[in-house]
Amino acid sequence: MHSFLTVIGSLATLSSITLAAPLKARQDDPQCIDGLKKIFMPEMHNIHIYEDVPEFPSTSTILNVMNGSSSNSVQDQVAVWSNIPSTATQCSLGWAVTEDRSFSVYDNGLIRFFELSGVPPAGTNITAETIAPFMEEGAKNASIDFTFWAEQTGAHTHGGGLVDCKSEMAFYLTKDMVSGGPGSVTLEQNAQNGLFLAIDC
Ligand SMILES: *[C@@H]1O[C@H](CO)[C@@H](O)[C@H](O)[C@H]1NC(C)=O
Ligand SMILES: *[C@@H]1O[C@H](CO)[C@@H](O)[C@H](O)[C@H]1NC(C)=O
Ligand SMILES: *[C@@H]1O[C@H](CO)[C@@H](O)[C@H](O)[C@H]1NC(C)=O
Repeated sequence: MHSFLTVIGSLATLSSITLAAPLKARQDDPQCIDGLKKIFMPEMHNIHIYEDVPEFPSTSTILNVMNGSSSNSVQDQVAVWSNIPSTATQCSLGWAVTEDRSFSVYDNGLIRFFELSGVPPAGTNITAETIAPFMEEGAKNASIDFTFWAEQTGAHTHGGGLVDCKSEMAFYLTKDMVSGGPGSVTLEQNAQNGLFLAIDC
């Protein structure tokens, strides 16, 4: 069974990845640290659900989720990790920034993540319409609260419990307007900054 829900509470509060029994890092893999390889830079697809504006597919390296007070400041996203090795036995979701980052949060930074049950076939534009079949009723959800973290200088890493490993993993990100409120999160992602999937290595 999925253990995604156990991640939920811890993502917002833990300040470091906690996993049982860290394995020894493999010498030949520079990304493998303390038995974990962090896969940064998921494919980010922008989803626009404006009332009267047609959706246009677009991808980005930037984590940018917002819902302000006007319709032109609303954006959801889908984050996709592909090619997760079948040898991965433990996977967990987290985020990190180094000192050298471009990161801003306006007002509230609570983002909710819904686990998609799959990913549209390659070559399909990722839009609200094409992901609808994968957005199941009662989908598992998690939240990450970015509020106030942009002002914290220096590197910090946030992680939590385990998620089920699948060869492709996709999450729908939206501004949480119920527990959070209006606001936006913008974080430029690269090899060391942004969302990551940590896998056993
Ligand atoms: C933005 O927030 C409003 C007010 O809570 C909500 O009705 C709307 O569905 C939200 N839009 C998106 C795309 O999340
Ligand atoms: C994907 O979106 C682009 C840009 O809007 C469009 O030109 C293209 O036809 C779309 N592809 C499919 C398979 O729908
Ligand atoms: C998130 O998951 C919890 C636990 O299953 C559920 O009670 C809650 O309604 C979900 N939240 C949303 C916004 O779907």
